[in-house]
Amino acid sequence: MSEDPAITLQDRFAAAKNDHASLWKSLWDDGTYIPWDRGQSSPSLVDLLNDYPSLITPSSPSQQLTAFVPGCGRGYDVLLFASHGLKALGLDLSESAIIAAKQNAEKSGLNSQLYGFVDGDFFGDAWRSEGERFDVVYDYTFLCALDPSQGLREKWADRMRELVRDGGVLICLEFPLYKGLEMPGPPWPLREEIYKGLLEERGFVREMYVKPRRYLESGEGSDMVSVWRLK
Ligand SMILES: C[S@@+](CC[C@H](N)C(=O)[O-])C[C@H]1O[C@@H](n2cnc3c(N)ncnc32)[C@H](O)[C@@H]1O
Repeated sequence: MSEDPAITLQDRFAAAKNDHASLWKSLWDDGTYIPWDRGQSSPSLVDLLNDYPSLITPSSPSQQLTAFVPGCGRGYDVLLFASHGLKALGLDLSESAIIAAKQNAEKSGLNSQLYGFVDGDFFGDAWRSEGERFDVVYDYTFLCALDPSQGLREKWADRMRELVRDGGVLICLEFPLYKGLEMPGPPWPLREEIYKGLLEERGFVREMYVKPRRYLESGEGSDMVSVWRLK
């Protein structure tokens, strides 16, 4: 049975009470109502990696940087990192999304050594090699997909602290910054101050804060890119 597009994402999540994991999975399984899926990498990330190559340049030719994209959906941003030569891992709760991501990856013609996809929970450890940490972690439409009333923002920040290697970076495409703070999600509204409050007290130092040259209409022109280095 296909989903009724007249029912908003916010109404669906309100009706799901706290079982958001099951709802994400059923939306992906059905596949007819996935309004967040853009069918491509975020243009803001494309431009960031082209404009600031030092973010993804290893310190020696023998080093291979690693990237991680939680809540990767169909994996477009994972493949973008792989296309720059990073070894990139995408994670999503949804097995259906991960199967689609693997199919996209096969079609991309990229070296399969450069990407991996796994289904699992960002907050759990089943998907992760013990102690595994990453040089670059990218968050777009993931923090805003976590219900703040469930204390998940603090858990997200604690988890990022564990997953970014010392000296590595967390890149956040901050979204949605335009949305009233009282509005329901997903996407749950965010602000520059919220990212700062979560990350600065965990040892992340913001080393870039830029307005993307290109962005998706969904951000209503307010999206920002922040780059946080773990000191
Ligand atoms: C708004 S969607 C964004 C997907 C993708 N980043 C994109 O832009 O197309 C949020 C994604 O996070 C995934 N997700 C939500 N909670 C998660 C969790 N705890 N662990 C892993 N993935 C999760 C959902 O399944 C969904 O694919």
